Amino acid sequence: MSQQDHAHAADEPERNTMLPPPRRWLARLGPDERRWLTIAFVWCLILFTGMYVWLAIGEQQNPVESYRIDPVAFSTEVDAFIAEHKIEERDGAEIVAPPPGSDVYLQARQFQWRPVLQLERGETYRLLVSSTDVQHGLSLQPVNLNFQVLPGYLSVIEITPDETGEFPIVCNEFCGLGHHVMTGLVVVD
Ligand code: CUA
Repeated sequence: MSQQDHAHAADEPERNTMLPPPRRWLARLGPDERRWLTIAFVWCLILFTGMYVWLAIGEQQNPVESYRIDPVAFSTEVDAFIAEHKIEERDGAEIVAPPPGSDVYLQARQFQWRPVLQLERGETYRLLVSSTDVQHGLSLQPVNLNFQVLPGYLSVIEITPDETGEFPIVCNEFCGLGHHVMTGLVVVD
């Protein structure tokens, strides 16, 4: 082995050894890295600001209020509400016509939204929603009323139906084997 080969091997100790790579992470960032980090940071600021702008002008927030509630107490209130205002029963579904302007209850449970609500167009109701077992997701289309329904929490939202028709409710949070058949209905006259 010549003198030159020895010198060459000493220059590149990492090639065939278990030595760690050079400590380059403390080196100054390259121009590309700086550019992309700047773009990412500015984009973060735009999205962060956008959250608040959209809250103000987007009209996409459901004005839902939440309160703690005992699921058993809620269940009792729903039963009383249905008993008081039920007008008929169709295929096992209770159809309830509450007086205009009143509080209306909607119970989420595996695997049903109960009862079917029959409301009047142009009247304002306070919708009281909760679950009596697991987490569900309320999705009322096409008005895009959409929020989580949790046991132990009462969600309250004011609604004023402005068109007549039948509006299906689906559950959009996986809640068990019957999740896909968990539907409900709001009828507006
Ligand atoms: Cu209830 Cu999915």
